[in-house]
Amino acid sequence: MNNKPETYILAIESSCDDTSAAVLYNDKVLSNVVANQKIHSEYGGVVPELASRAHQQNIVPVVHQALKMANIGKNQLSAIAFTKGPGLMGSLLVGSSFAKSMAQALEIPLIAVNHMQAHILAHFINDATQMMPPFPFLCLTISGGHTQIVKVNDYLDMEILGETLDDAVGEAYDKSAKILGLGYPGGPMIDQLAQEGNPLKYKFSKPRVGELEFSFSGLKTGILYFIQAETAKNPNFIEENKADICASIQHTIVSILMDKLGKAVQKTGITHVAIAGGVSANSEIRKQLKATETTKGWTTYIPKFEYTTDNAAMIGIVGYHKFLKGNIDAVDVKATARLSVEKE
Ligand code: KG4
Ligand code: ZN
Repeated sequence: MNNKPETYILAIESSCDDTSAAVLYNDKVLSNVVANQKIHSEYGGVVPELASRAHQQNIVPVVHQALKMANIGKNQLSAIAFTKGPGLMGSLLVGSSFAKSMAQALEIPLIAVNHMQAHILAHFINDATQMMPPFPFLCLTISGGHTQIVKVNDYLDMEILGETLDDAVGEAYDKSAKILGLGYPGGPMIDQLAQEGNPLKYKFSKPRVGELEFSFSGLKTGILYFIQAETAKNPNFIEENKADICASIQHTIVSILMDKLGKAVQKTGITHVAIAGGVSANSEIRKQLKATETTKGWTTYIPKFEYTTDNAAMIGIVGYHKFLKGNIDAVDVKATARLSVEKE
């Protein structure tokens, strides 16, 4: 018999440039509304002031729509979960103040969620298309702000085995896209253009760092100098070779990620391997990870596309597991720009 309580959780995510609200019934997603902020594409990156202003405009309609799509009333909610950090302070404050006022008005528990734990726990959303990994498993968390290999011991017990010393992999994608004159976010555009290109056409050097460490700032500079040198010779170089350049950048990045993941598996002996975060939407990393099932005997976990980039459903699933443990927060809980995945 299942004696877990029936819970309806409203979750709110506002850490960067997506305003999102979701409603979960236990571990199932009833609605997951995401409002992307188009304004940043003009600037080639997220402008913090514009992001918080857009969150202020979006939050009420997005929450309203999430409740409407889930077909439940505010009074049915068991708790409200929100992103506490890490992220942009101004953006986090919009979501956290909204969540606090609503929880207080409804007199229901408030649950503060670590955004990086949420990317990982997105694997535990109960959805027919996703398989839940057993503990412990390894998770390569790749987003616009983070690049980490995490050993996940339990829902809220995580250990960083290795991480980037400088830029995150999503930044490497976004900055490369900026150099090539593509818009923001650059990851999806490079991924798409790469489909038509030759991944071995251009070689970029890989960083020499510790076994489980990453570094992407040298790669970004390497790409910049390469493009500057080539366009000095041929002003149409980018236009004429866009697909090959993107495919070669993607090949370099994904082979760095796969190489490190291989080392982590070797070191820990754990062969249940997941990916999470915005960059886990990437077609090449998904393909190469999947291939290890036959080539290396790993069991792999690839999140459903809509749970990869920032979304509130992933905040809701952490909220659900914290709620089950009675792990709720006081109304004076503070949003925080920096927060390790190892801390709740
Ligand atoms: O997790 P996320 O939505 O936000 C952060 O928490 O940072 O990740 C955003 C990052 C951006 O850098 C974006 O370019 C990248 O994820 N991204 C991709 C793809 N889709 C999103 N990178 C490579 N390939 C993709 N298909
Ligand atoms: Zn994220």
